[in-house]
Amino acid sequence: MRSLLYSVAAVLALVLNQSFVWSRAIHTGAPRDRLTQGGHPVLRSRDGNANLEITIHKEDSINPSDSYNAYVSGYDPESHQYVLLRPAGDGYEYFKPGGANGITPTPITESISIPLKDRMTKITLPGYIVSARVWLAKGELTFNVLLDGDNKVVVTEPDTNNPTDPAYNLSCGFIELTNVDKDGLTTNLSFVDWVGLLLGMSVTHQNGTTEDVPGLKPDSVDNICNSLKAQSEKDKRPWDKMCRQVDGKWLRAYSPNMYSQLNKDMLDYYDSYINDVWDHYSTTPLVIDSQDNNGVKVVSGQPITCQVKDGQLACDQDAGVFAKPTTADIWGCNSGTFENIEEGDHRKEVKARLCAAFHRSTLLLEGGSTQPSPNLTAPSYYTVDPTNHYSRLVHENLQGGRGYAFPYDDVNPGMENAAGLIRSANPQSLKIHLMQ
Ligand SMILES: *[C@@H]1O[C@H](CO)[C@@H](O)[C@H](O)[C@H]1NC(C)=O
Ligand SMILES: *[C@@H]1O[C@H](CO)[C@@H](O)[C@H](O)[C@H]1NC(C)=O
Ligand SMILES: *[C@@H]1O[C@H](CO)[C@@H](O)[C@H](O)[C@H]1NC(C)=O
Ligand SMILES: *[C@@H]1O[C@H](CO)[C@@H](O)[C@H](O)[C@H]1NC(C)=O
Repeated sequence: MRSLLYSVAAVLALVLNQSFVWSRAIHTGAPRDRLTQGGHPVLRSRDGNANLEITIHKEDSINPSDSYNAYVSGYDPESHQYVLLRPAGDGYEYFKPGGANGITPTPITESISIPLKDRMTKITLPGYIVSARVWLAKGELTFNVLLDGDNKVVVTEPDTNNPTDPAYNLSCGFIELTNVDKDGLTTNLSFVDWVGLLLGMSVTHQNGTTEDVPGLKPDSVDNICNSLKAQSEKDKRPWDKMCRQVDGKWLRAYSPNMYSQLNKDMLDYYDSYINDVWDHYSTTPLVIDSQDNNGVKVVSGQPITCQVKDGQLACDQDAGVFAKPTTADIWGCNSGTFENIEEGDHRKEVKARLCAAFHRSTLLLEGGSTQPSPNLTAPSYYTVDPTNHYSRLVHENLQGGRGYAFPYDDVNPGMENAAGLIRSANPQSLKIHLMQ
């Protein structure tokens, strides 16, 4: 029972973290070409590359005698079914895993690990893929299959929260990508769940230019865990418990959202701040800058004005009414008032910006009545308590501060790119840097 619970958590985590572009399309059959990011429609072009080349580079800091493996998982853009990559002939193919045995998670037995034997390992994708992850691990990960209530095969990904999952004791991480014909490649470094393996990446466009998100600095896990410990000493909150040690070394720092899937002591963390925000915006309007001009992302777009009435945040421009969130709703940005349901663009835009503003604690700062605001950029984030100190520390340890530390980190004023998202309408290759 326990392991099933964890697996369900893993499925949820997977849906949560991969969902912002494609999940609604996958799960509800909405038109597939309506991509959004940070609550924005995404522009498209028409020169995708189905056979994207992914090179994984083990940097010099990696001890050659340690064994690392890669795995690729995601959804087929046509059938919306879950696929995994496996070696076939000289290359690789996608397959839909079978072998599920009732509700008990059963490990997938096909050989899906791609051993990173050399300094460089090249993988050419056999076709387009959406909501995909390239997993990297020091050791071997396990993916499981089970049948859900409708007898449908469900794949559960490695779950670092589950003490019976091999991933629990391993250093691992992933990058996320969607690569489709119309929109090309969208990829990011995700630390929404945890920080473990040190990863960086770069994308080369077909015209030969390269864009870089260099990723975590050396010793990031140690630095983040030591700083979380210092934060706990300061505010007496369990930040230190979000780090796990194995053999006397910091293995991983979990996000408050992952931590709160198993622990209750961070579920009241934002409560007084939420009340203060609700009180404040019952007498003052909160303006959400949609950054949207008829479906085009702009620096300053159509404003949506909201105000708390009868306990709920009521917004104009058809964005609707938002109930007061709980702390748990804020950690995941996808439950309660932030639940991902079929809804209009303006509502998505308010939801993303409101949840981001809670993580960054910018709602009660001077100028905070506009979100996001060119007057409140990265240096203003995480400056008052309560705030997401995990996210603060992850950004401090990212070169250039870029990478996702919570689900709507791609809400950014102006040209800021806190999330470290790379887009290429015409991608040639993706390089992943593995460091220690
Ligand atoms: C993780 O490591 C601990 C301590 O060495 C061990 O007891 C446990 O069985 C390991 N768990 C898994 C899933 O490998
Ligand atoms: C990262 O990008 C993928 C692919 O575009 C997207 O599905 C996902 O939502 C993004 N990750 C996060 C944490 O937002
Ligand atoms: C190459 O392509 C990328 C992505 O389409 C674009 O951003 C960049 O400006 C182009 N560079 C040159 C030199 O054409
Ligand atoms: C930003 O600050 C300037 C200067 O104080 C002010 O004029 C402007 O209205 C502010 N913008 C927003 C969106 O708050």
